[in-house]
Amino acid sequence: MNAKVLGLGRALPNRAVENIELEGVVETSDAWIRERTGIERRHLSTGETTTDLATEAARRALEDSGLAPEDLDLIIVATMTPDYFMPATACLVQKNIGAHRAACFDLSAACSGFVYGLSVAHHFIRSGGSQNVLVIGAETLSRSVDWTDRTTCVIFADGAGAMVLGASTDEGVIRCTLGARGDDQNILSTKAPGLQNFLLAGKPLEDDPGPYMKMDGQTVFRFSTKIVGESIRETLKGTGYSLGDLDWVVPHQANTRIVDYAASRLKLDRSKFFMNVQTTGNTSAASIPIALAEMKEKDVLHSGDLVMLTGFGGGLTWGSALIRF
Ligand code: ACO
Repeated sequence: MNAKVLGLGRALPNRAVENIELEGVVETSDAWIRERTGIERRHLSTGETTTDLATEAARRALEDSGLAPEDLDLIIVATMTPDYFMPATACLVQKNIGAHRAACFDLSAACSGFVYGLSVAHHFIRSGGSQNVLVIGAETLSRSVDWTDRTTCVIFADGAGAMVLGASTDEGVIRCTLGARGDDQNILSTKAPGLQNFLLAGKPLEDDPGPYMKMDGQTVFRFSTKIVGESIRETLKGTGYSLGDLDWVVPHQANTRIVDYAASRLKLDRSKFFMNVQTTGNTSAASIPIALAEMKEKDVLHSGDLVMLTGFGGGLTWGSALIRF
């Protein structure tokens, strides 16, 4: 059986924050943020938790799918900002939506997390292990950034997106490929709170950055512009499809300049890349499903479209998925 996309949903915190509002928080400017990242505004939580946003996105995706909560047999939440390390966010969503038959777990692959989760769902459905799977990407990154660090706090934001997949004989998810390079762990990292406790055991941590996200922006930029093209080409291999067959590429919404470079390297029409980072900021694991749900709401994503999703980020990790909608 194939994994067919049955429904999509998204949830953003109510509070939209314009670039200009950040000028009073760190030394930055609307012009700098727009030019270097493409971002114009983002949504930041005023108390909505990762679970709240994930639950709302899940409800909308379920409604869009026409399935009932008890039809789900697996819930996967990709996040690097869970409310709890235990229980998993997926368990909290299960309780909130009443999906009592579902197995639940969280997955950590930073900005590639949604594509990783989708790949797991695809394989569960193909193997017959699951019939209907809910995959969510959800983040409250405003809790994770250092609000005195202008190189990160202007980029990252909050939100959640969800996708319901069901077993079908129709073409659906065609191929997923994933990758990681753990050697580059320090390029993009957030230390777990509590790690400092090792100090009590006499093992001081060198250059302890605290529990906030740290990013070497230029190295991430070079990595991202290269890996997007490589990952897309790798995913097309053996499928019988080529770049020219794609109706859409939906990349992780990191930065418009990364996508401009990647599109020109691939020699692929830039208008085929859907972008909404301008209004959402970088929501990490949530960005791809938020973009897909927005495309559906705007009626630019249609049944039958051939779409390439491509994620990249901390780990370093990357992954792409070719899907017939
Ligand atoms: N406002 C104003 N100035 C700033 C800001 C800011 N918010 N942040 C940095 N600057 C300054 C720097 O201090 C530097 O000043 P200096 O020249 O006086 O030293 C200057 O701007 C240029 O800094 P660079 O780091 O060289 O700026 P760059 O052109 O590389 O842009 C950016 C920085 C936007 C972070 C870029 O490297 C980038 O896009 N990287 C990719 C980051 C990204 O997208 N990460 C997310 C992808 S992965 C994921 O989603 C997990």
